[in-house]
Amino acid sequence: MNRLQGKVAAVTGAASGIGRESARRFAAEGAKVLVTDLRGERAEDVAREIRDSGGQALGLKVDAGAEDDLKAMIDTAVGEFGSIDILFNNALNNNPDTIARDLDFLNFDPEVFHINMQVNVLGGVLATKYALPHMLKQGSGSIIFTSSTSSLGGEVTAFTYGATKAAVNWYVQTIATNYGKQGIRCNGIVPGVIVTESQQAWSNPEMDAAFLEIQNVPRLGKPEDIANMAVFLGSDEAEYCNGCLYQVNGGMTASTPMVPVVRKFLEDGQ
Ligand SMILES: NC(=O)c1ccc[n+]([C@@H]2O[C@H](COP(=O)([O-])OP(=O)(O)OC[C@H]3O[C@@H](n4cnc5c(N)ncnc54)[C@H](O)[C@@H]3O)[C@@H](O)[C@H]2O)c1
Repeated sequence: MNRLQGKVAAVTGAASGIGRESARRFAAEGAKVLVTDLRGERAEDVAREIRDSGGQALGLKVDAGAEDDLKAMIDTAVGEFGSIDILFNNALNNNPDTIARDLDFLNFDPEVFHINMQVNVLGGVLATKYALPHMLKQGSGSIIFTSSTSSLGGEVTAFTYGATKAAVNWYVQTIATNYGKQGIRCNGIVPGVIVTESQQAWSNPEMDAAFLEIQNVPRLGKPEDIANMAVFLGSDEAEYCNGCLYQVNGGMTASTPMVPVVRKFLEDGQ
């Protein structure tokens, strides 16, 4: 329960899902946590809940698409808690309007591309820019980005989302390359299907059942599954881990793409 004792963490997109669970887990492991989200009141609710259960946390409204907010996030972590040791760049643009405008390649909308790049990629890059001077001064720090399985191959919809996550992967490796020797680690988590608000907004029970079929564990993912990895990467236990993309996906990418087809044939033959 004290794997992050003495550390200060800031989490973006932490009013729900993966970010909220990670903020809770960071605090339960002894970190002081700045809980941030575009929905500031809900971020404060999460922080209050952490304080009520004996942890240390503050809520702050941070739009990951606004550079001033990201600077204020790092300034607040350092000003209120004394340092920034863990930066979890987790927010995504989940605005239903931009999602709806991202579904048809023949109507590719450059504005949607730029908005998603601004929030999903630049958000983490700029937060890192402001956190790095503090981390370099103390000679340590862990930066974590939430990537996506969509970054790993071609997609049939959401034609900017996967591109933003592929860019995230590149920044993970580049930040790791540039600052690893100075004690700063940067890693990405590549979730599979994690049941959250954003995931439920585009999925449905039939799709969830089909996703379960292509996994190699008996359940879909929970925010806790990603939070567990984030705790590890934020802790000193991960001192030798830098520049990696950790797939936490119920074994979804363990099998060849042919396995679901072969499984079906085998079942039908029985
Ligand atoms: N759930 C999955 O299956 C899954 C799979 C792969 C990757 N991911 C990634 O995990 C991360 C977290 O997603 P989640 O599933 O927990 O979603 P979620 O909807 O539960 O949480 C996303 C949070 O981001 C906040 N947000 C939206 N726009 C923002 C902005 N401009 N600035 C700051 N915060 C903003 C929302 O208010 C929300 O609280 C995202 O980066 C997402 O791409 C999720």
